[in-house]
Amino acid sequence: DQYAEWLATIPKTELHLHLDGSLQAHRMLSLAAKHGIGLPYASVGEVEAAYQFKNLQSFLDLYYLGASVLRDEEDFYHLMMDYLLVCREQNIVHCEIMIEPQTYAPNGVSFSTMMAGFTRAVDEAEHDWGQSVGLILSLLRHLSEEDALQTLTAADEFRDQFVAIGLASAELGNPPEKFVRLYAAARERGYRLVAHAGEEGPADYIWQALKRLQVDRIDHGVRCVDDPELMAHLAETRIPLTVCPLSNVRLRVFERMADHTLLQLLEKGLCVTVNSDDPAYFGGYLSENYHAMHVALGLDRSQTLALIRNGFEASFLSDQKKQMYL
Ligand code: HPA
Ligand code: ZN
Repeated sequence: DQYAEWLATIPKTELHLHLDGSLQAHRMLSLAAKHGIGLPYASVGEVEAAYQFKNLQSFLDLYYLGASVLRDEEDFYHLMMDYLLVCREQNIVHCEIMIEPQTYAPNGVSFSTMMAGFTRAVDEAEHDWGQSVGLILSLLRHLSEEDALQTLTAADEFRDQFVAIGLASAELGNPPEKFVRLYAAARERGYRLVAHAGEEGPADYIWQALKRLQVDRIDHGVRCVDDPELMAHLAETRIPLTVCPLSNVRLRVFERMADHTLLQLLEKGLCVTVNSDDPAYFGGYLSENYHAMHVALGLDRSQTLALIRNGFEASFLSDQKKQMYL
């Protein structure tokens, strides 16, 4: 339709994307076969039939199972390249991608194998069509802070390849304050800081991420609507929220897209951005997220442009690069 055609012409960012969440069903199956890994699914149809989630944890169970088929450099190259080709197609000129080494480590995958595949794809995309990419070292909050600190240390050798650290996985019961030492260590190393907060967890987790971790940006953050003081603080500071509409509906954060509060946040002056989170699992990449908001909430062109501009503002691009798009 016209909105979709118009949207495709506008350069966009994506700031909240778990690379493992872009693993398509056909690739999951082919890599399982390649490495002789048993999966409880025999066809693309069977994998996709499992994309029925009742909450974050029910999704994470499938997400980590899917990611367990990634083993060698070629696998990581293709995973990254598949997503970067979508960026080219959807006019996502700058993306910041979360990669999660703790997911692969139990399968004997070294940091250097993973990084070799990822950086080969990134270098190619930068060279071939000028793709701009930042990598975020995303740590898993269901594991210990000690495990995250060891991963941060393992990343020292690749420090220049990352713009930021992040915090993902099961939120409830794993509050930001569990990771105060991790964030201090990352800050000392010069990383920018993001963390998932206020997806399933309460508004207080957003406060913790801001005050105890001193994050530059909040992933999700939609539970801020429960706390007017927090809303005012986010509006005043313009600390960005990377909101993921299709994810929120699939993981039952909102019952229906029509219930989503993204436009209220935009209206109140918060720096909200639109992102896809785990596009292979949630029924769409970035453009499909905008399109779903257009259909369900009447997201119009000027609101769309405001959200896209927020994406550049919220990015970790240099001020000079931001100016090219703002
Ligand atoms: N929330 C927390 N952890 C995640 C998500 C999410 O939406 N997607 C992948 N890991
Ligand atoms: Zn996420």
